[in-house]
Amino acid sequence: MLRLQHIGKHYDNKVVLDDINVAIESGEIVSLLGPSGSGKTTLLNIILGLTKPDRGTITFNGVDMTSLPMKKRGFNIVFQDYALFPNLNAYDNIVYGLRNKKESVSEQEIGEYIEFLELQPHLKKRISELSGGQKQRVALARTLVTKPQLLLLDEPLSALDGVIKESIKKRIQSVAKQFKLTTIIVTHDPEEALTLSDKILIIQQGSVAQFGAPQDIIHRPGNDFVKQFIIQQLHIKRQNIYNLFGETHV
Ligand SMILES: Nc1ncnc2c1ncn2[C@@H]1O[C@H](COP(=O)(O)OP(=O)(O)OP(=O)(O)O)[C@@H](O)[C@H]1O
Ligand SMILES: [Mg+2]
Repeated sequence: MLRLQHIGKHYDNKVVLDDINVAIESGEIVSLLGPSGSGKTTLLNIILGLTKPDRGTITFNGVDMTSLPMKKRGFNIVFQDYALFPNLNAYDNIVYGLRNKKESVSEQEIGEYIEFLELQPHLKKRISELSGGQKQRVALARTLVTKPQLLLLDEPLSALDGVIKESIKKRIQSVAKQFKLTTIIVTHDPEEALTLSDKILIIQQGSVAQFGAPQDIIHRPGNDFVKQFIIQQLHIKRQNIYNLFGETHV
C-alpha cells in the first residue's frame, strides 16, 4: 500500500498542494485527475522522489520513503514526452536504465516485456522511425524492465489519438493486472480516468476533491467542482460513457 499523509507543497508564495491524504492499495490503477495547474505533476514528482514536499509523509508497504532519494524508492516513471534517446535504437532505449545493474534482470525477462508489448519488429529502429504509439510502448518497456514497485505515468495518452489511444489504454491495464503493479496515472481527461482506473483522485487547486471508484464519482460526486468537472464532460461525451457504465441517469 502507498500511503500519503498530510502532503503539502508551496512554490514562491503559492500553495500548490494542501494536506493530501490518500491510501492506494497494491495492484490498483489510480488516476490523478484535475485541471491544468491543479498540482498533478507536482504530486507525481513528490511520490517519485524528484520533488521534496514541505511537509507530510510517504510510506510504501509500511516503509517510510519520505526522505529516501528517488533511486532508493524503487519507483519508476514514464514521462509525458517519453524522454527517449533519439540516437539510440528502440532496444538500446529499453535497456538503457539497466546499464549499471544488468545482472538483476535476465535477457529472458527483458524479452518477455518486449514480447508482451509486441515490440520485436521495432527493436532495431531509431526513435524517429517509430509512430507515437510505438514510442509510448518503448517508453513503457524501458520503465517496466527496471521492475518498479510502483509505476507512474504522466499523461501517457495525451499525445495519442483514436485507435492508438484505446490500444495503449488496454495495454496499461493489462500490464498493471499481469504484473500486479500499483499504477498511478496523471490525466486531465475525465473520460480517460473513468475508463482506465480502479480509483480516481480528483484534485482541485491542490486539495483532494474526491477519491473513489469511477461508479462512485459518477453517481455520488463529492462536491460542485466534481459535478462540474466530471458530469458536464460526461454529458458532452454521453454516448461513450453510457456504453461503458450501462446507465442512463448520469
Ligand atoms: N518548479 C516550480 N516552480 C514554481 N512553480 C511551480 C513549479 N512547478 C509547478 N509550479 C506551479 O505549481 C502549480 C501546479 O503545477 P503542476 O505542474 O503540478 O500542475 P498540473 O496539474 O500537472 O498541470 P498540467 O495539467 O498543466 O500539467 C502551477 O501553478 C505551477 O505553476
Ligand atoms: Mg502536469
